[in-house]
Amino acid sequence: MANIITIDGPSASGKSTIGLLFAQKIGYQFIDSGIFYRLGSLLVLKYKVPLNDIISISKIFKKLNPKFNLINGRQAILIEDENVTSILHSEKVNKITPILAAYKQVRDILKIKQQKIGSISNTIMAGRDIGSEIFPESKLKFYITASPEVRAKRRFKSMSKENSKLTYEQVLEETKKRDYQDSTRLISPLRIPDKAIIIDTTKMNIEKTLKKLEDYYINSPIFNA
Ligand code: DC
Repeated sequence: MANIITIDGPSASGKSTIGLLFAQKIGYQFIDSGIFYRLGSLLVLKYKVPLNDIISISKIFKKLNPKFNLINGRQAILIEDENVTSILHSEKVNKITPILAAYKQVRDILKIKQQKIGSISNTIMAGRDIGSEIFPESKLKFYITASPEVRAKRRFKSMSKENSKLTYEQVLEETKKRDYQDSTRLISPLRIPDKAIIIDTTKMNIEKTLKKLEDYYINSPIFNA
């Protein structure tokens, strides 16, 4: 059986950055489950599928077969042979992804895909419901969070490079809106999984956070198995 470490948390909490670095350090594969929701959303936009056409939306998510390639030394995500890495976090995709992620049909389809990926090799998977719904039996679960203001500041820093008109206040408002959408939806809302270790990164840098995760890993049943 492959080991699985789960990292959940709200948007821009740093879980993907930390998860990837942590995975590289301990030799696990890293999967950001949010990418699957974003890829499906991108295709829904591409094919102009109405957001209430759940049959067509389900077909798109079922067929989802992304490729993860190294291009110029960086991880690139390809779908239907197109490199979509740079548009996965566009405002259009940001807007519709929480809507599609709230459909039970979409979540059921992605649950099977995510469980399959995690069963193949040792994996760190990040998302909103990984420790609670996808791998509830995981022996090491983290919940990484930070204040909305700090998370908005981090997102503003990366987003303002692409959109110079964007203000910090807009990003803060959008961050709070996404928190509300993710935590109040009826199906698999964002929540702290049972037995998860809570790490608040509001006043912690990447190195310190990484060290904390490593310490828990070394003392966990996974490491000592
Ligand atoms: O982590 P992210 O910002 O890339 O996630 C994009 C959207 O997908 C966000 O609205 C939450 C949703 N999501 C989810 O519902 N469950 C997951 N396991 C991962 C992401």
